[in-house]
Amino acid sequence: MGKVYVIASGKGGTGKTMVAANLGATLAQQGNSVVIVDMDLGLRNLDLYFGLESHVVYDVYDVMTGVCHIKQALIKDRRFENLHIIGASPERDKGDLTPLHARVLCEKLRDQFDYMIIDAPSGIDDGLVVAAAGADAAIIVTTPEYAALRDADIVDRQLQKLGISERYIILNKVIAELMSAGYIPRLREISTLVRPELIGVIQNDENINISTNLGIPIVLKTGTYIQANFQHIVSRLQAAEAEADAAADADAEVEVGAATAAGAASDAEVGAE
Ligand SMILES: Nc1ncnc2c1ncn2[C@@H]1O[C@H](COP(=O)(O)OP(=O)(O)OP(=O)(O)O)[C@@H](O)[C@H]1O
Ligand SMILES: [Mg+2]
Repeated sequence: MGKVYVIASGKGGTGKTMVAANLGATLAQQGNSVVIVDMDLGLRNLDLYFGLESHVVYDVYDVMTGVCHIKQALIKDRRFENLHIIGASPERDKGDLTPLHARVLCEKLRDQFDYMIIDAPSGIDDGLVVAAAGADAAIIVTTPEYAALRDADIVDRQLQKLGISERYIILNKVIAELMSAGYIPRLREISTLVRPELIGVIQNDENINISTNLGIPIVLKTGTYIQANFQHIVSRLQAAEAEADAAADADAEVEVGAATAAGAASDAEVGAE
């Protein structure tokens, strides 16, 4: 069964689609089967970041509303056999999609892929509610500015309300000199402004900007610090996932233990009758 991550942000332009594309490409480089789904309905970008814009025939709206089968909307990346994307619909009026549509899509994709990465629209409105509906975990992408951090906190609270307990932060577009000079908040302060664990810090780098424009995920250039950075982010996510699974198992054991104790107690009562 695959794992579903939704990539969210409060403010627009923080780097969600860049993170979705490069996280997906890194997971695929490591041999996982991956699908990245553009649920920023009305503002399709993901296909461009992979240079696959001419391949989108059916989109995620068509899949969710039953116009086509999933396999008709899956677009295979030219560089990786095990990496697919599903494009968003470029039209804006998608008010008839419900969280249930997204949940059903995620359940079907889980059987086919190790990882599903959902690129959500920015903000906390219905678009996020639909995009997050089938997700197990969320990654909130923010930049190191007070306004973006406050909005990231608001998104975090919304995701918690939506029932996503596993949530992480990626800090993007960091300019190290500004941070060390104290012109933008430092990491320690940032960790007091947003609650989830910080699993990645990505520098502002024009090569990232160039790569998204060229439609080539930057992690495909091997041996760079950016590729290593994304590999570290994946390792941290996987370690956090293992910890979360262990905690869930421990909870389940406690519940089973409690149920056994309750059962034993009621058995004892029965015995006493
Ligand atoms: N670390 C970075 N360094 C330099 N440029 C970056 C970085 N991350 C993203 N960008 C650039 O910032 C722009 C916005 O990035 P992106 O499209 O990923 O943001 P987004 O959060 O998906 O935006 P939207 O809210 O519009 O969907 C793009 O031009 C991208 O190339
Ligand atoms: Mg985007």
